[in-house]
Amino acid sequence: MRIFGIILVLLLLATPALTFAEKAKTVDELAAMYDVGPCKDCHAKIFDEWSKSIHSRSLVGTGSTMGAMKGMIDPALLKTFTQSGAKDIKDIKVEHFAFCFKCHLPQIKDATDDVAKQLAKAIMDGDRATLEKVNINCLVCHNLKAIVHKWQDGEPEKGVIYGSKDGSHADKVYTAMKKSVILEDPVMCGQCHGLGPNFEFPQPSQCATIYGSYLHAYIPTGGDETCQDCHMKRSGKGHTMPAYRDPDMVKMAVNVDVDAKGYKVLPRPGDLIPMAAVTVKIANKAGHRIPDG
Ligand code: HEC
Ligand code: HEC
Ligand code: HEC
Ligand code: HEC
Ligand code: HEC
Repeated sequence: MRIFGIILVLLLLATPALTFAEKAKTVDELAAMYDVGPCKDCHAKIFDEWSKSIHSRSLVGTGSTMGAMKGMIDPALLKTFTQSGAKDIKDIKVEHFAFCFKCHLPQIKDATDDVAKQLAKAIMDGDRATLEKVNINCLVCHNLKAIVHKWQDGEPEKGVIYGSKDGSHADKVYTAMKKSVILEDPVMCGQCHGLGPNFEFPQPSQCATIYGSYLHAYIPTGGDETCQDCHMKRSGKGHTMPAYRDPDMVKMAVNVDVDAKGYKVLPRPGDLIPMAAVTVKIANKAGHRIPDG
């Protein structure tokens, strides 16, 4: 009995720091579960690119995400959605955020309702420091969202980094590396970059729909590049994954043909004088409609 007890204690001590046996009770605990601090030591360039990306601020965005989420809480959840069950911040649960956090913070599935209340308060107070602690980071893409077909490929495993191959991995917690079948496929991004309304929720939302446009407009008209091709490789900015705020992406996005003709007229007194007639043709070269979201 005693030996069994000692072995059990040893086993518990040997368990890696990262076990999701319990759900996070605070924003800090959730941030610790998805801690990417150590990744920086060995993947400095990628870490720096990601830190500049909007994925690293997915509850704040350009500022408008935080603003929209504020309106989503009050008046929407607390007043307009009279059947939501939430009348006050203290009534807010994880389920109330699902129709936004499905994509803006999918790891919320590992948190208790207390975390939902803390985030709701931070959103209402405009507390960016708290909101930026949790985001779409390395572990969201290289673990949580790295497997789509779970009946076929199983659930993402603890301590595994999903990349381009199988092998061992130098990190202390994520000690193994496995091949993700979707990492280089548009479906990886499509999980959050949306098809249309999210009908699975009691109150459907519609935010990003670029994956729908990509599948139904770009591919059928002969498009053959992936999201990763344009946003990570052709952009030359890897994990920054830039869009319209990057001048090079704007150049990649459109062809502009300008056809201008000059006019010579004999004006009568008081006439407006037309100086030129300009025909502008703008062709979208992005892999989907623009803008979106
Ligand atoms: C001690 C150094 C070290 C740390 C810490 C580390 N990595 Fe790595 N990582 C490596 C090395 C080295 C490779 C390349 C392994 C190889 O090619 O066999 C690698 C490979 C990877 C790959 C796969 C690349 C591919 O070929 O597809 C990913 C993804 C990755 N790391 C992500 C992470 C993340 C996320 C973290 C933080 C949780 C992290 N790494 C922490 C050293 C590290
Ligand atoms: C299907 C996944 C998904 C859901 C659900 C979702 N979003 Fe988004 N949202 C995105 C993506 C992806 C973008 C950015 C890319 C784009 O514009 O297409 C975005 C962009 C935004 C933007 C513009 C960001 C900026 O800074 O300019 C706002 C605001 C926003 N979301 C708020 C919300 C709110 C509020 C909810 C919940 C009611 C929500 N989203 C639900 C995926 C989603
Ligand atoms: C939004 C999703 C996403 C996030 C966040 C993300 N990655 Fe990646 N990562 C990818 C994809 C997709 C690829 C494969 C790109 C390709 O080759 O098509 C990749 C490739 C890699 C590779 C191998 C290729 C290379 O460029 O060396 C490493 C290493 C890596 N990521 C590490 C990280 C680290 C470290 C972080 C956090 C700082 C991170 N990733 C965050 C999606 C992501
Ligand atoms: C876990 C969900 C998720 C995944 C997976 C994901 N994204 Fe995003 N992405 C978002 C959200 C949410 C935003 C908007 C954040 C905001 O503005 O609030 C966004 C924003 C963007 C933007 C807009 C950047 C800008 O500067 O405005 C681009 C481009 C983008 N993502 C590309 C990608 C690509 C390419 C992939 C696949 C390799 C990918 N994303 C995977 C959720 C995701
Ligand atoms: C053929 C290249 C190409 C492909 C393929 C492509 N994109 Fe884009 N994307 C662009 C360009 C260029 C822009 C910048 C458009 C602009 O300047 O407004 C852009 C813009 C975006 C934006 C910002 C949209 C906005 O204005 O709100 C997001 C998000 C995005 N792409 C995600 C994706 C995702 C996810 C995929 C795959 C499903 C994808 N892109 C496939 C070239 C591409």
